[in-house]
Amino acid sequence: MRQSSLVVVANRLPLDDNIAPDGACEWRRSPGGLAGALHAILEQTPATWVGWTGTIGEAQRLPDLGTLRLCPVSLTEAEARGYYEGFANSTLWPLYHDAVEPPVFDRGWWETYRSVNRRFAEAAAEVAEPGATVWVQDYHLQLVPQLLREMRPDVVIGFFLHVPFPPPELFMQLPRRVELLRGMLGADLVGFQRPQAAHNVAQLAAKLLDARGADDAITLDDRVVRTGAFPVSIDVAEMRSLSARPYVVNQARRLRHDLGSHKRVLLSVDRLDYTKGIEHRLTAYSELLRDGRLKVRDTVMVQVAVPSRERVENYRGLRDRIEGEVGRINGEYGRVGEPAIHYLNQPFDRADLAALYQTADVMVVTPLRDGMNLVAKEFVAARRDDSGALVLSEFAGAAAELEDAFLVNPHDVDGLKETLLHALAADPGDLATRMKAMRSYITANDIHAWARAYLTELDLARSLAL
Ligand code: ADP
Ligand code: G6P
Repeated sequence: MRQSSLVVVANRLPLDDNIAPDGACEWRRSPGGLAGALHAILEQTPATWVGWTGTIGEAQRLPDLGTLRLCPVSLTEAEARGYYEGFANSTLWPLYHDAVEPPVFDRGWWETYRSVNRRFAEAAAEVAEPGATVWVQDYHLQLVPQLLREMRPDVVIGFFLHVPFPPPELFMQLPRRVELLRGMLGADLVGFQRPQAAHNVAQLAAKLLDARGADDAITLDDRVVRTGAFPVSIDVAEMRSLSARPYVVNQARRLRHDLGSHKRVLLSVDRLDYTKGIEHRLTAYSELLRDGRLKVRDTVMVQVAVPSRERVENYRGLRDRIEGEVGRINGEYGRVGEPAIHYLNQPFDRADLAALYQTADVMVVTPLRDGMNLVAKEFVAARRDDSGALVLSEFAGAAAELEDAFLVNPHDVDGLKETLLHALAADPGDLATRMKAMRSYITANDIHAWARAYLTELDLARSLAL
């Protein structure tokens, strides 16, 4: 295997599940923030991406994607169950998202999580050239930094957590809390979406590892681990140029027509995940219809909910509940040829997503907890004029940056209803001021700025450590 000076290690490879018979493959742009964000910066950089294809069994050789080499890691059925569906997505994911669903602590999953993390670390060690930078991503691979440091002390190791890091009271519930914390702190720089996360980790390191912790540096075993907040972003220029394409503009026009040109459109785009607050949102919308404060003859909701982690029990139950509720709302309030909600449980390509964003009067992004939420940023980047309102949860990382959105507590259904009505009734001048401010913020803080900030800090962390 050829070696690279930059290696990204993430659970998922960013490529399409369907590899054509001639072996050609395309960027998958999987519905999820991580692959989308990194795709934007790695497409043109010589690097290797170590990750899982999402399929079970022996990993096949994969062709390069431009200058990016793909190094697949294989998982057996039992490993996918214990590591991906189990420890990562049934223990860590719910715990890190405020335990909005109860985390499951299954003792059998831990060993699998550890052995799969070792496999990722070994793969990274093999493809990293001497002194390379290895950038490990997300909660699936929290043990990799320390394992890799033991195998390859010469490489510079970064770790970035795309999801929230929980408050100490929640993290302390984890039976394997010491190992997980130590594993992550094997990096030279640990990056988070929000400064509060670095604060939480510093407190935990002091308590559990006897480290000296500050919010930007933790001293552990005579080594200094830098920490800090680096809010992730999107490729604003790419989304803007996509949005100006004739296909997208025409598609947006057609969708508007099909939805009813005179109607106000409420749009939501999520992975079908219980952290996204879809049920609370449906309750708010349905009560507004029930109370006659919104009418189907002049308002319509579009809910895109792309299938996700479908083998995990909680996700299947959620889908059933959402589909039941959408059916109920349409049954009660819809009219012939005029549903109250269009529900789309399918993936879209980027151009169609950009067109959808352009059709919305109000974009409703109301997760109960979210590390960042890139959909909110994509909506702003996709708008070609200054119309459109963004209703955004205070519990999304993006709320700290998009302060000109209509911020809302999604747990407060009455507050959510009032905010939806407020956004629908907003004066165009007010909306324009808000949209301009949000656009200028994301333009200055795009995905390239994020990668530059992180990698510069990583270089610095390493040079200070030497
Ligand atoms: P998460 O990372 O939790 O999924 P984000 O909002 O940060 O949440 O990222 C979601 C990403 O997935 C966005 O880039 C969005 O465009 C993409 N996405 C969401 N729904 C779909 C869909 N139906 N088809 C394709 N991509 C989608
Ligand atoms: C979130 C996580 C990513 C993950 C994505 C999609 O964005 O932070 O690490 O890749 O969701 O989830 P999936 O389980 O399909 O990879």
